[in-house]
Amino acid sequence: MIQNSNAREQWGSKIGFVLAASGSAIGLGNIWKFPYIAGENGGAAFIFVYLICIAIIGLPVVVGEVLLGRTTQRNPVGAFRALSKSKIWASVGGMGVIAGFVILSFYAVVAGWSTGYIIESIRGSFFNFDETLTSEVYFNSLTSNVYWNVGFMMLFMALTMGIVYAGVQKGIERGSKIMMPILIVILLILMIRGMTLSGAEEGLAFLFNPEWDKLTGQSVLVALGHAFFTLSLGMGAMMTYGSYMSSKDNILSSSVWIVFLDTLIALIAGIAIFTSVFATGQNPAAGPGLIFQTLPVVFTKVPGGFIFSILFFLLLTIAALTSAISLLEVVISYFVDEKKWKRHRAVLVMGFFAFLIGVPSALSFNILADVKLFGLTFFDTADFVASNILLPLGGLLISIFVAWVWGFDKVLVELKKGAEKVFDESPFIINAWKMFIKYFAPVLISIVFLHSIGVLGLILDLFN
Ligand code: PHE
Repeated sequence: MIQNSNAREQWGSKIGFVLAASGSAIGLGNIWKFPYIAGENGGAAFIFVYLICIAIIGLPVVVGEVLLGRTTQRNPVGAFRALSKSKIWASVGGMGVIAGFVILSFYAVVAGWSTGYIIESIRGSFFNFDETLTSEVYFNSLTSNVYWNVGFMMLFMALTMGIVYAGVQKGIERGSKIMMPILIVILLILMIRGMTLSGAEEGLAFLFNPEWDKLTGQSVLVALGHAFFTLSLGMGAMMTYGSYMSSKDNILSSSVWIVFLDTLIALIAGIAIFTSVFATGQNPAAGPGLIFQTLPVVFTKVPGGFIFSILFFLLLTIAALTSAISLLEVVISYFVDEKKWKRHRAVLVMGFFAFLIGVPSALSFNILADVKLFGLTFFDTADFVASNILLPLGGLLISIFVAWVWGFDKVLVELKKGAEKVFDESPFIINAWKMFIKYFAPVLISIVFLHSIGVLGLILDLFN
């Protein structure tokens, strides 16, 4: 194994790694995005396709990314550099570091709304929201306020920086060990609340009775793209967390846990949200406003709504925080490993820089609302560039590197460390992984990527 000359921090335990990596995976993607894209794409049929994407592409790529990190014990740029002489591969790692900044810039804005909504819930601001319109107007009045929008984004960034500043074990691992159980408990409480409302069955039917005719080619691509975002793939977050892992731990079982928890939490969030949305007669296909505009109305209508609203936004903020720390950690590990910066300095300087990059996104809802790049606001541009270009392209190149460039014998030698039993007793698992990462992942991710940048549409047009 390639060792770093500086003593590198490691996770204190296997469960520490699993919780931190699940914390990275479970985020706004699960609680904010997944329910509304499922709502827009017809519910159960979409979820079915999503689960397949998670299993045949998500899981194999998680294994590949964690393996790259663990083998090299480096940040994404250093990881590629350690295994290949070509600068092109190091730049794939560099793309990950840039993606860290770009995702953080819009992620922190939505996470800031969530933080601000904890305060709004405590103040009881949602009490007189008897219809969605009032709630929409309220949301717009908050986000159009520069101080509110930038202020809560700043507060959220400061929390993120505080945890990363404290280090891998004392900050990220300890924070995840405290926050993840809280997250799961709150979510279970909310799910039980939703399921015990009268009319909850309709929400469950929406989630679990497939309407196949609502499923389009487009929804399949959305499902695959989301599988990437929700598992924090394609930008080196899993690689960076893997780089703090020891070779005694089993990557296969850890990855199964991460993917299982991420999927379970998305489904529970879906149940909690749709049972209450249907029970109170709200619109399930409200899009991105589902959480911030529809749910506050739901809370005024369910018994105990005051408490549940506080719990809900606390949950959303915790989920966002454990993901944001992984985004910042990718950047920090790069400056610490490659530029030999001290962690504390890297966090202060780069955290502040990430905040500055986020400001235009926060202003996209007010004073910069009319400033457009290619027809998109700063916020939408950052989201588009990260989710549609950097992540799928990164994921594609990472799986090609693992499957075709690194040398598969070496890959297997590394994967076997800590997983000897799987290799001896269930070799078919290893063969399946090999097939998925060699063929399925590159082909399917290429299709999503070509689609997201619009090339697929052009090609299809040629045939029509
Ligand atoms: N997985 C996170 C979510 O679902 C987002 C994320 C993407 C985090 C990429 C880190 C890296 O919200």
